[in-house]
Amino acid sequence: MIVTIDGVAASGKSSVSSGVAQALGVPYVSSGLLYRAATLLGLEANLDLHDAPQLLTLLGTRPVHLEPLAGGNRVWQAGRELTDELHSTRVDRGVSVVAALPEVRAWVDAQLRALPEPFVAEGRDMGTNVFPHASHKFYLTASARIRAERRARERPEDVPAIEAALQRRDELDTVQSAPAPDALVIDTGPLDLQGVIDTILTRLR
Ligand code: ADP
Ligand code: CDP
Repeated sequence: MIVTIDGVAASGKSSVSSGVAQALGVPYVSSGLLYRAATLLGLEANLDLHDAPQLLTLLGTRPVHLEPLAGGNRVWQAGRELTDELHSTRVDRGVSVVAALPEVRAWVDAQLRALPEPFVAEGRDMGTNVFPHASHKFYLTASARIRAERRARERPEDVPAIEAALQRRDELDTVQSAPAPDALVIDTGPLDLQGVIDTILTRLR
């Protein structure tokens, strides 16, 4: 069994996926963390983030491992944990460029498809491209202002700056962010976190 939860930036995908996964007693899988890890490593190596061959060579020589847990995903490169560095502003700024590279998307997709079921998978294209045969599909939305206000509680930046950055990323991510035709679209604006989790669990039951 695979449940997919896709949606725009900061729509609640990882928090909701974690809640749903814990209720179901399965892990959740954060695909965005793999795009973020590729970006962090590219930045650290001073690579041009548009340069797919160089990035793929780097990722091939320094393998990245995603640890999908119900409570929160962790990312490792050999013995080094990358998790805490993946939500920095510089990774936020570069990640959509890296995620637009077909070679990097294939690198992420191969890792996700090798994971043992069952799990909840969250990202942009889990229900469309990576797991089109998932048993249940959801797509989270909310206005850019609401998403920015939520994220401002986690980051040392003001709401207008976060909102502008989210809108820029939404635009750059448009190609891979279409909801699956068979996904239930949930506007999380009027709901609290538990409300979104309960909406999904009700549908699953
Ligand atoms: P994403 O994985 O889509 O980037 P997150 O799960 O990180 O989103 O959520 C962004 C922030 O918004 C987190 O602080 C989270 O707790 C909060 N949040 C998510 N959904 C809701 C909601 N429905 N109501 C209020 N806050 C929410
Ligand atoms: O939720 P938020 O957008 O803040 O972060 P994320 O889910 O970790 O995704 C980070 C970035 O990775 C996105 O902006 C996309 O560029 C990319 N991504 C993607 O292209 N496809 C996915 N399935 C997941 C993430």
